[in-house]
Amino acid sequence: MQTTQELRHDLLEQIATATTPRDVLKSAAYKGLYSGLGSLSPDKRATRGKEINDLKRVLETAIDAREFELESAHVEALDITAPWDVSGSRPELLPTSQGTRHPLTTELEKVVDIFTRMGFEAIESRQIDDDEHMFGALNFPENHPARDGYDTFRTEEGFIPPAHTSTMQNRILRAGKETLEAGGQIAAVSYGRVFRNEDVDATHEHTFYQCEGVFVSKDASLAEMLGTLRAFFEEYYGQSLKIKTQPAYFPFVEPGLEFAIEKPAALGGNPLSSVGEWLEMLGCGMIHPNVLKAADIDPQKYQGFAWGGGIERLVMLKYGIEDLRHFESGKLAFLRKFVA
Ligand code: PHE
Repeated sequence: MQTTQELRHDLLEQIATATTPRDVLKSAAYKGLYSGLGSLSPDKRATRGKEINDLKRVLETAIDAREFELESAHVEALDITAPWDVSGSRPELLPTSQGTRHPLTTELEKVVDIFTRMGFEAIESRQIDDDEHMFGALNFPENHPARDGYDTFRTEEGFIPPAHTSTMQNRILRAGKETLEAGGQIAAVSYGRVFRNEDVDATHEHTFYQCEGVFVSKDASLAEMLGTLRAFFEEYYGQSLKIKTQPAYFPFVEPGLEFAIEKPAALGGNPLSSVGEWLEMLGCGMIHPNVLKAADIDPQKYQGFAWGGGIERLVMLKYGIEDLRHFESGKLAFLRKFVA
């Protein structure tokens, strides 16, 4: 006579390979369990009855699982990576005339191209960063209120989607240290997406683009920086421009400046009424000695300048776009204006 244990093992094995697993409950081996029940004493019968019920429950669970397995085997696998429904016929390709490059992509490329031609190396900025690159290495003292000015988002793990491309400064400086010490210079721009926890309106977005420049040499000067920026803006807008600066505070530059251009007629300014209409384009200044030190560069021997500003603002001015929100809206009517 088989023990209940052995029988349980055998029946489960049969279920696992059966094509009609529920039939196992009709098998002689299973039914045999009930046959001797009537001749048992009442309390033995109760114990045995419970054993059989427990076994039945186990078998039914196994049968359900096996039935599910058999059913699933008939479902065709779905390739979610396929570019169209692979079980249907191949669709026509969408005409490329319906797609356009996003104006920010096109313009960012123009910006980067101008700086590259001026001798700057271009590096895309990171989209997730840490407290050290966002603040520490940029001379923001611990708990300093200037940190609040950047409305940073934070992930649950404490990482920061960068609020400016300045998070790349320390990396650029470290990467260029050897060239600098060998008698060369550091000249790089970093560009990419930045994020701020801001209320969105016609001139504010939570997600936007910046481009940042870093230049370090033995004798870099503000005059060189202003010359570089003027050359950039005149090249980008294709005309000569008036520029001016005013003092501004950023912990990572000293002195710090705001750089403005006078709105030119060709960019939508009325030649008479717009005279003296200054447009702030970016923040800039001489790199703070502490920022150089954070990258292990000796501020006694080397000095540099840095600037950073938004791309959207540049583009809005160039094309007379009145609302920043168009860029992230995905509106075709807007995007189609930029079909090349
Ligand atoms: N990172 C600053 C901002 O986004 C701009 C800046 C860059 C200022 C580099 C000075 C030097 O507000």
